[in-house]
Amino acid sequence: MSVKSDSKDSRGKNAGGRGAADSAANGGDKASEGGDDGAGLKSESNTVAAAIDRRRRRAEEEFAHELAELERRDDRKRPPRWRLSPRAVASYLMGEKLENGFIVTPKYIGNRRLIEIAIATLATDRALLLLGVPGTAKSRVSEHLAAAISGDSTLLVQGTAGTSEESIRYGWNYALLLAEGPSPRAIVSSPILRAMTEGKITRVEELTRIPADVQDSLITILSENTLPVPELGIEIPAAKGFNVIATANNKDKGVNELSSALKRRFNTVVLPTPATEEEEVEIVRSRVESLGRALELPAEPAGIDEIRRVVAVFRELREGVTSDGKTKLKQPTGTMSTAEAISVLNHGLSLAGHFGDGVLRAGDVAAGLVGAIVKDPVQDRVVWLEYLETVVKERDGWKDMYRACRNVTS
Ligand SMILES: Nc1ncnc2c1ncn2[C@@H]1O[C@H](COP(=O)(O)OP(=O)(O)OP(=O)(O)O)[C@@H](O)[C@H]1O
Ligand SMILES: [Mg+2]
Repeated sequence: MSVKSDSKDSRGKNAGGRGAADSAANGGDKASEGGDDGAGLKSESNTVAAAIDRRRRRAEEEFAHELAELERRDDRKRPPRWRLSPRAVASYLMGEKLENGFIVTPKYIGNRRLIEIAIATLATDRALLLLGVPGTAKSRVSEHLAAAISGDSTLLVQGTAGTSEESIRYGWNYALLLAEGPSPRAIVSSPILRAMTEGKITRVEELTRIPADVQDSLITILSENTLPVPELGIEIPAAKGFNVIATANNKDKGVNELSSALKRRFNTVVLPTPATEEEEVEIVRSRVESLGRALELPAEPAGIDEIRRVVAVFRELREGVTSDGKTKLKQPTGTMSTAEAISVLNHGLSLAGHFGDGVLRAGDVAAGLVGAIVKDPVQDRVVWLEYLETVVKERDGWKDMYRACRNVTS
């Protein structure tokens, strides 16, 4: 029996109750281990099938039980083809305790109004552009919005300098094209065309990295809600429910500036860096905890004090002033994003788990911290040394951090 069909069987058995996504993943893993033992050798295609089974779970799979519960209790009006009402989508994103005690976990920590504006946009004929500095959860928000609205976060175009018009519009199956000539059957849909025909949300990541002429193919789609196929003399209309969420990075501004024609088709929502230290500590704590579990790190969860210190360093250097507002600081060239703070702690947990006693200490955090700050060996080193000697060294209870950082700073 192949690995693939084994794991499908156990998925079926487990998928019934609450927490189906969790048990499906466990079942999948166990089944593929069983397949290895029994068969001894794995064929290449079985290896691929097992890898596909173990892939990172998509938002709609990981939070299937939350989405199902919200759907059951949702009596508000839903826009055409939406799985949930806009208000329930906001509850899914921001988290909520439902009347029956069921807890919906927050996916985005921050200003609720921004998320409401984003959702309301998607219920109109305008597309949504999530803009912000790196690591402000643009991709995360777009994935969870697509999961909650369409139940499908996979219709994704990853923007790069090499993104072609085919990945925005459609390509051709050349075998069929040669055999039968151009016909609808020979069209190979892009994720955007699939979203149009299925009435779903599609995501375009890093829109401003896509060359300007390729970006332009989005204009007709967004303004006419149709995709012309000149080779067949037809236009494919978008089904109701179709819309686009694009993300773009402030720092990439100017790489491929959005044309004003395209900009006009989007409502822009700027996702800011976390407003308060408390908010940022909560984001880092919850992400480090769930990533640590996913990576099966052999360490105890990071202590809140260590998280607070890392977040404090990131915020002070990002803002160029100490948290008491008294000392101005030089700022490093990097963005000091929340996402990097999460990585520093995860890296620390890996060191503590694999090379220490499993408890995260200053020495485990220091290496990652210096790496995150000193991106430019000359300029950032000056900034870092000044911060180390004037802030870290003098702060009460930070002696261990100072020593650990000195050790890894040449
Ligand atoms: N406000 C927030 N709420 C929840 N998670 C957050 C928040 N800000 C950052 N994160 C976390 O930071 C990490 C990075 O987020 P994500 O990749 O979505 O950022 P991004 O804005 O798309 O960055 P980039 O511009 O580099 O693509 C994720 O693990 C995410 O959970
Ligand atoms: Mg992103």
